[in-house]
Amino acid sequence: MSTSPFTHIEQAPPDPIIGLTEAFNNDSNPSKVNLGVGIYQDASGKVPVLKVVREAEARYYAAETTKTYLPIDGLAAYNKEVQKLLFGADSPIIAEGRAVTVQGLGGTGSLKVGADFLRRFFPDAQVWLSNPSWENHQQLFEAAGFKVNSYPYYDAETHGLNFNGMLETLKTLPANSVVVLHACCHNPTGVDLSEEQWKLVIDVVQGNNLTPFLDFAYQGFGDGLEADAFAVRAFAEAGIPCLIASSFSKSFAMYRERIGALTVLTASAEESKRVLSQVKRVIRTNYSSPPSHPAQIVNLVLSDPELRQQWEAELAEMRDRIKDMREKFVEMLREKGVEQDFSFIKNQRGMFSYSGLAPEAVKMLREENSLYIVGSGRICLAAMNDNNIGAICEAIANVL
Ligand code: LMR
Repeated sequence: MSTSPFTHIEQAPPDPIIGLTEAFNNDSNPSKVNLGVGIYQDASGKVPVLKVVREAEARYYAAETTKTYLPIDGLAAYNKEVQKLLFGADSPIIAEGRAVTVQGLGGTGSLKVGADFLRRFFPDAQVWLSNPSWENHQQLFEAAGFKVNSYPYYDAETHGLNFNGMLETLKTLPANSVVVLHACCHNPTGVDLSEEQWKLVIDVVQGNNLTPFLDFAYQGFGDGLEADAFAVRAFAEAGIPCLIASSFSKSFAMYRERIGALTVLTASAEESKRVLSQVKRVIRTNYSSPPSHPAQIVNLVLSDPELRQQWEAELAEMRDRIKDMREKFVEMLREKGVEQDFSFIKNQRGMFSYSGLAPEAVKMLREENSLYIVGSGRICLAAMNDNNIGAICEAIANVL
């Protein structure tokens, strides 16, 4: 065989989240639990296919007439439904054509299209992430060519937000800096801004002409579809041009179907047309056009009143079960003799608990109990249930 051109290629490190799932899948311990990746499991420990998704799939497949390509920007009806969910059905933004939405490959794919688009038109801008942020943000924006920095966010002392630190840093950023914000259910901390705090951030963003990029992967997992859209709508109402990456991976439990959207808020319908033409170029040169199936299903559910109601009920069930697990987790840690106060976990929102567990404890839990937790100490509460929570809390109590 001729000399390989790949001999200099080094082994890449495992992904901090998906790499854990790979290790989990290879673990033969029958009581293993994957508290790493943000995936909802039901009370019996299964990642369910929502009933409403099954129903929509049956209806869609019976009526499907073609498998021809979707347009570069995806299914138009789906993109419209996404806008309604983001801004509210009666939003003037939609009526005036001040938003461009393209179908994306989940939240990650939508972020990447947005990052590539920004990099093309703001080559000197830098990206600012919350400290900490979703593990994949940094490498995703770096892969798009950006220098990535961080602004203060989490305060380990209070288990809350370092809001002053955040605001003071944002005030120093030059115009066009890309500021990545988690619109709700901050990943990994579960610590969100209050409505008043969002308004102060909006003033700074507007005053300094920063470019907000809202990561909105968990709509419906905080307080509900409408309440969780507060930040997105506040930016929109303030007339701030921004980008929003949204996802249905979690809210439809359609993780493997890769369905999300990138929305760009613009100043006018005319600007929207130009922006869309360029976003389409990014898509065309990456993957040409998105898959049809998941967009058809989400569109059908969002636009059919009966299916929509069923979806909202199933989403509420997931949200409530996670909240219930939050309460039980805190309670059970106490029952297992943990003296440290973990009640802050009840105030966090979304799928995760930023537990404060040190990296050594995380390592021990994996090696000794086959409990898989992200290195930052982030725990996915949506993987807990009444059958495993006792053993999880006992194991944690042993390493504290
Ligand atoms: C997570 O944070 O666990 C999820 O967003 C899944 C992922 O792709 O990392």
